[in-house]
Amino acid sequence: MKDDLPFLFRQLTHGVYVIGVSGGGKDNAFTAAWVMQVSFSPPMIALSINPGHSSYRMLVESRAFSINVLPANRKDLAKHFGLPAETDKLAGVAWRRGETGVPLLNEAMAVFECEYSHECEAGDHRLVIGRVVAGSVLNPDEFPMNYRETGDMDASSGLYPDGFT
Ligand SMILES: Cc1cc2nc3c(=O)[nH]c(=O)nc-3n(C[C@H](O)[C@H](O)[C@H](O)COP(=O)(O)O)c2cc1C
Repeated sequence: MKDDLPFLFRQLTHGVYVIGVSGGGKDNAFTAAWVMQVSFSPPMIALSINPGHSSYRMLVESRAFSINVLPANRKDLAKHFGLPAETDKLAGVAWRRGETGVPLLNEAMAVFECEYSHECEAGDHRLVIGRVVAGSVLNPDEFPMNYRETGDMDASSGLYPDGFT
């Protein structure tokens, strides 16, 4: 049990978000759990993103991204946006363009818009720090989704090493 890294790391509490990006004349969005506030003034949020995602290139190009907070009852959206961008994932989903030009989901319980500030390496991910420039609470009575409730939707249990080295 002590070396069961997927189970161990599921003890950390994360929300579940849809990150909106635009670049190369296209819009896209993907599910992310590794999101956290990192500064009050200026308000800043960090996102850990796999640089292999098509969304990463779009984010770096557009220098902006949105964070759409998913309510607990929208696992369908978490699953949908967790798929690779082989199709237009935003087709059939109600969204609008934010002040920074990135997609905002109408069914999010809250939205943030961030301007890209800087990034650094974090193992197999990149830690992108964004400065929050806009945001609003759309549905204050809803409860946010907890990453743990998504089970292995992201297939992450197969991504950990066998143990600590
Ligand atoms: C619940 C859940 C949480 C996820 N969290 C992250 C995350 O924090 N960072 C990340 O880079 N990918 C995360 N993913 C994986 C991406 O959503 C997935 O690889 C997606 O296909 C990338 O989209 P894109 O190809 O449109 O860029 C998560 C997926 C799910 C289902």
